[in-house]
Amino acid sequence: MDPKHAIVRTPGNLYTSCLSEHPLHHTVSLKKAREQHAKYCETLSELGLEVIHVPRDDVFPDSCFVEDNAVVENGKALICRMAKESRRGEQPGVAAVLEGIMPIKWAEDPATIEGGDVVHAKGKLISGLSLRTNLEGVTQMKEWLDVPVATIFDPTIMHLKSYVTYLGKDIMIATEKYANHPALEGFNILIPPSEDEYAADTLSVGDTVLMAAGYDTAQLMVKEAGFDVISMEVSEIQKCDGALTCLSILF
Ligand code: GLY
Repeated sequence: MDPKHAIVRTPGNLYTSCLSEHPLHHTVSLKKAREQHAKYCETLSELGLEVIHVPRDDVFPDSCFVEDNAVVENGKALICRMAKESRRGEQPGVAAVLEGIMPIKWAEDPATIEGGDVVHAKGKLISGLSLRTNLEGVTQMKEWLDVPVATIFDPTIMHLKSYVTYLGKDIMIATEKYANHPALEGFNILIPPSEDEYAADTLSVGDTVLMAAGYDTAQLMVKEAGFDVISMEVSEIQKCDGALTCLSILF
């Protein structure tokens, strides 16, 4: 089902202190990040989504990456228990918005789970078992949301969605490393060239796909697969180890 709502949160005053291993982290501009975020919200709105703003948070540097705070499926939300201590505390703002809309449940210790690990595709979920999400997290998600969950185990990565996202029409975009994983069986897979791997984190709204600017080959592949592509400038998001999906919860 196509999403109708997007939960977002403007980058807070401490954004430049985000968790990041990006080599250009030290050059991140809060002003530019806010401009890029505003354009993102405007684009989602133009695509027909109701954009719901969680009040800005100026305490937790990574708070604009709302995707990690909750997994929504089947009309319910699991509020995530973040793996990184420095991100625990972002969730109440997002939970307050979600609980006005649907039943919520908080993931509990020893679970760690972050929405950036969870690909939604045709009523099922494909979750990374990663540096941020553990088996207990996946189990709690599966039980509360009452959905089938396939997993991809890779304890070296932060979030699966940096490598695998669902475009729609049974088509996934996945980097070479995951393209033949059994969890993706039954989907047609587009594999971007290695220099375009960052572009594998896409955000689909109907037949339109938001993709990071600067990755022309990956964009062309998605266009040739029958989608409209909107190219988004996300340099300041990328410098905080974020990407397009990280900035919203769609439902
Ligand atoms: N900067 C996003 C994260 O590390 O969680």
